[in-house]
Amino acid sequence: MENINQYFKSYEELDVHQLMLSDTVRNLAYKNAIMNCKHMFKDKIVMDVGAGTGILSIFCAQAGAKKIYAIEASNLIKLTEQVVKENNLDNNITLIHSRIEDIDSNDLEKVDIIISEWMGFYLVHEGMLNSVLFARDNFLKENGMLFPCIAKLYASPCQIPSMYEFWDDVDGVNMKCVGKEYRKTKSMKPEIIVVDEKDLLTEGKLLAWLDLQCISIEELNQLGGEEYISVCNKDGRYQGVCIWFDVEFPDGSELSTSPFHKVTHWKQTAIVLPTDIEVTKDEPIAFKLELTRNSIKPRQYNIELVLLDASEVEHEVPCPCHMTKCIVMRTYIAEHNGSSDEDSIKK
Ligand SMILES: C[S@@+](CC[C@H](N)C(=O)[O-])C[C@H]1O[C@@H](n2cnc3c(N)ncnc32)[C@H](O)[C@@H]1O
Ligand SMILES: [Zn+2]
Repeated sequence: MENINQYFKSYEELDVHQLMLSDTVRNLAYKNAIMNCKHMFKDKIVMDVGAGTGILSIFCAQAGAKKIYAIEASNLIKLTEQVVKENNLDNNITLIHSRIEDIDSNDLEKVDIIISEWMGFYLVHEGMLNSVLFARDNFLKENGMLFPCIAKLYASPCQIPSMYEFWDDVDGVNMKCVGKEYRKTKSMKPEIIVVDEKDLLTEGKLLAWLDLQCISIEELNQLGGEEYISVCNKDGRYQGVCIWFDVEFPDGSELSTSPFHKVTHWKQTAIVLPTDIEVTKDEPIAFKLELTRNSIKPRQYNIELVLLDASEVEHEVPCPCHMTKCIVMRTYIAEHNGSSDEDSIKK
């Protein structure tokens, strides 16, 4: 059984909220999505699952929502109450100090919209999405909306210079041996770091696409798990796998934590390889990456990365890699489409 109190106690730390509230990419992604959808919020009933300081509830009120149930389990709610008063919204926002799971669905009106910022590192760390899905199943009207409504998880083989090159020359001193030991410990658990887009070796592979309107809690127990082929778009050193996520709102706007976008407080998650591998442009990298919910600590996931032999894994058709079977397949497709192999390679 999880230690529920410890989880909610951590949200009484104001530093945690300061970190989230300083993330303007995050705040503005929610605010813009809400404001783009004012017509959906006008005079509607909304539930904010895990209201924290109340910022999302306040955005919803500013967008014209008639009533917002702001649900917060931690004692932070005493401050949330003051924030709501400070913004003169106590007539619109009803604060409920409880875990969402402990509220009787007969005690509240059904809601038109559920909003929540539930995402953890590598999307599912913290397991808070379970609570949002509980809210969906118990409090959302039929045809009600979720903000966000879709979540996507990606992975790409990458370079991690801070784990490798850094140790080659520390202000003129060679420390490769320290780097080797350092990586042994670092490869045992996911690293939360910023990965530069230039260090991604391939395009992101989609590990999971979650439709929050209909996905079940059980489906979150295991994500990814397929065999993936990623093709290098440059020469480099394969030093780890970078994981990131995007969420999408009903207006189609996105909050992205990818290395191609501005850094958020989630940064990226990297799985570090203990030893690196030289790779070249068009080389296929095969791997299996699986996130499995920890049965003892259900708010955590075990992430398993398995390196595979690219010649033993099925490639997409067409595949842009340099392996003979893929070149032959591309040539065959090009001949049958009437375009040249060069054209199809460029695609
Ligand atoms: C990631 S924070 C987001 C806070 C706020 N919505 C924001 O955007 O700044 C998640 C909040 O949800 C609360 N929370 C998590 N699970 C909950 C649950 N099952 N019931 C009620 N509150 C919950 C936590 O205490 C925390 O304050
Ligand atoms: Zn291939």
